[in-house]
Amino acid sequence: MTLIPEIILDVSGNSLERTSWASGQALARYVLDHPDSVAGLNVIDFGTGGGQVAIAASIAGAAHVYALDIEPFGDAVQANAAANGVTNVEFRQVDARYFHPDTDNISWDILLAADVFYYRGVRRFLHSLDFGVRSAIIADPGTRGAPPFTDRDTHPLRAYGNVKTIPAEMEEEDYKNTQVKLFNLGERLRGKGKGSR
Ligand SMILES: C[S@@+](CC[C@H](N)C(=O)[O-])C[C@H]1O[C@@H](n2cnc3c(N)ncnc32)[C@H](O)[C@@H]1O
Repeated sequence: MTLIPEIILDVSGNSLERTSWASGQALARYVLDHPDSVAGLNVIDFGTGGGQVAIAASIAGAAHVYALDIEPFGDAVQANAAANGVTNVEFRQVDARYFHPDTDNISWDILLAADVFYYRGVRRFLHSLDFGVRSAIIADPGTRGAPPFTDRDTHPLRAYGNVKTIPAEMEEEDYKNTQVKLFNLGERLRGKGKGSR
């Protein structure tokens, strides 16, 4: 059972972009239940996969959503966006190792990211962001062996228990029924950790 039954997603076949990942479900659920977190804002969904978080942000009233991924998932994201009747989700193919929103002409207020922290370059990318007037909400399914941040850097937001990736075959055994933790990133990251992780 998905946490976000109101969002239509193509989960046919076994591929990264046709999977509703547990962390993305939890972050999408949070955004749908707390539309004030994104309403009227320019949102980045970093490592968007099939775009479930980006679509949730759009439904919750985001002004514009940048759905970013290293893989060429634009067709899948746009198909899912269309199935849900949202028109302000813009896919861009970027690699965290070589990308920065300020130099790639992306104006953003809040960054959302689910289950991307064990990839090379993603933590460094997050630490390079200027959170002066911005924020981020990140979702982690139990770290997959690499804690995203230290307690010092994160503000626990809430947890969702027993979340299931769909289709189940796409998930590692340890994460088939996982607890997803959501954190805020913000002012504590300012000036800290740049390039250190
Ligand atoms: C486990 S999936 C999570 C997808 C989505 N956030 C969700 O929860 O539904 C991780 C995603 O991160 C993307 N990714 C991995 N490394 C990346 C990088 N260096 N830059 C941008 N995206 C990356 C992958 O292609 C994949 O779509």
